[in-house]
Amino acid sequence: MLAVGAFALAACEQKKPAAPEAASTAPVAATPALTLPVSINAVMVSLVDHSSDPIFDVATKPPRTDDAWRDVEYHSYQMAVAGKLIQLAGTGPGDAAWVATPEWKAFSEQLSAHGMEALKLAQAKDAKGFEAVGNKIIDDCEACHMKFKPDIPSMKIMHKPDFPHKPGT
Ligand code: HEC
Repeated sequence: MLAVGAFALAACEQKKPAAPEAASTAPVAATPALTLPVSINAVMVSLVDHSSDPIFDVATKPPRTDDAWRDVEYHSYQMAVAGKLIQLAGTGPGDAAWVATPEWKAFSEQLSAHGMEALKLAQAKDAKGFEAVGNKIIDDCEACHMKFKPDIPSMKIMHKPDFPHKPGT
């Protein structure tokens, strides 16, 4: 085994470029950019929108059990992560152009930061605090939609009316 290992090592040595100085300045092969396997349209509906409704509900219908608070905590994690995820392009026709703009990045970062604020409130079971954070999150949705959202979703994926979310039913 040792001999094989030594041989393999020797083979590797031989593959070294003849002129290491020149090789070190050569461009490194680019790693393919990380992309989402679905469209941003799909992420909007299944993750961003889906986690936002229960967060918006907290101020008016405060959770009454530890389990219900845990749900709000998980939805807040989802929102915080979604704001980062949507900075990656997916399979939608507009995705790559959107994520390349500084405005998109700024809106997404805000969404993630407000998801983190919601998370802290959920962990403190502070229902009152959700009124302010809910408003901030709605502002994030609207600001970005006003600038970027096409009238008809590019992949025709919509939250409503195909899925009228009614929490708890
Ligand atoms: C960084 C920008 C951005 C933010 C922030 C954002 N959205 Fe979106 N959203 C979009 C874009 C762009 C589309 C359209 C995607 C497409 O058509 O390919 C979209 C589509 C949607 C859709 C599906 C289309 C429809 O009309 O039903 C829903 C639902 C949605 N967003 C909800 C939300 C909610 C709720 C929030 C806030 C919690 C939010 N979005 C935050 C950019 C954003």
